[in-house]
Amino acid sequence: DAAPREDKTDLYSLLEEAASWYERELPRHADAQAYCRKRGLDADTIKRFRIGWAPAGYDGVMKALGNSTRRRDLLDQAGMLASGDRGKYDRFRERLMFPILDRRGRVIAFGGRVVQASPASGQAPPKYLNSPETPLFHKGRELFALWQVKQANQSLARIVVVEGYMDVIALHQAGLPIAVATLGTATTPDHTEVLFRAAPDVVFCFDGDRAGRAAAWKALESALPRLRDGRQAYFLFLPDGEDPDSLVRKEGKDGFEKRIRDAMPLSDYFFSELSHDVEMGSLDGRARLAERARPLIGRLPDGAFRDLMVQELEKRSGVGANLPASALHRAAHQP
Ligand code: UTP
Ligand code: MN
Ligand code: MN
Ligand code: MN
Ligand code: MN
Repeated sequence: DAAPREDKTDLYSLLEEAASWYERELPRHADAQAYCRKRGLDADTIKRFRIGWAPAGYDGVMKALGNSTRRRDLLDQAGMLASGDRGKYDRFRERLMFPILDRRGRVIAFGGRVVQASPASGQAPPKYLNSPETPLFHKGRELFALWQVKQANQSLARIVVVEGYMDVIALHQAGLPIAVATLGTATTPDHTEVLFRAAPDVVFCFDGDRAGRAAAWKALESALPRLRDGRQAYFLFLPDGEDPDSLVRKEGKDGFEKRIRDAMPLSDYFFSELSHDVEMGSLDGRARLAERARPLIGRLPDGAFRDLMVQELEKRSGVGANLPASALHRAAHQP
């Protein structure tokens, strides 16, 4: 990346200092403690996820850690500062802090949640604030809690992708340390690659609301080109208004595990979503399905799964899928 390696080393150690500082602040603030209790976070979870507190005020981090021009510059490069009319100030203020670790357990960024109810009038601050892209943090590649998942599991049969910090944390706390989250972005192809390297089965589980359903389809699209060598993607749709955090608290570990086991295979989701507004009894409807499905199936790498998806489309629509072989993938697999 743009930053020289010695700068990166300093950025890592400054972010480590920041995470420790936020952790030490947490027990010193009654509102932070009360919020943790309200969300049911136990002491072990707080420690395992290194949850901390960014105090109110504009220069807590700057005063504690920015005691030289060089360190202040590093704080800025690490995304810890915002700038306004009167110069730089702490980006994270009065927020519950979730450090984002890379796959080696190093702190590379933060997410911070407001704990105050939003004001009745005026601009409400965003519920979650994340670090911006920095030399250490590329949100299209990082997954929250992948490090914790790797720590908790020697080998992983499946990994579950959820939307939010609290969803991940609630699942881990409930005894399902197999959950990660994308960080306020859609699932990217890079995420999908990282996920399939972690486990052969990836279960996408987004909130039971419109945004969640849109996110699921995006995830499907990002998974298509990666579906080879027996990798499988599944989709878990939650009841409207629920998220994994709310549900695992109601249903417990066993209830949520059952949902994971019953998740919908990608092929089922694919055809049901593409035909939900299609009159399959009519030639016109079947043509519509075929037109929609072809370019997507065309993104699958060559292999048994693609062959079967082609067959299934032909069976459902009566139309030959007529796809060119996936030349790129074939080239990559030449011995
Ligand atoms: P949700 O709005 O579903 O929040 O956003 P949540 O995770 O259920 O949060 P709680 O339970 O109210 O604490 C899902 C995820 O989208 C990102 C965060 O990663 C969040 O966890 N997000 C959401 C943001 O980045 N910024 C926001 O303002 C809101
Ligand atoms: Mn980069
Ligand atoms: Mn949501
Ligand atoms: Mn949610
Ligand atoms: Mn939630």
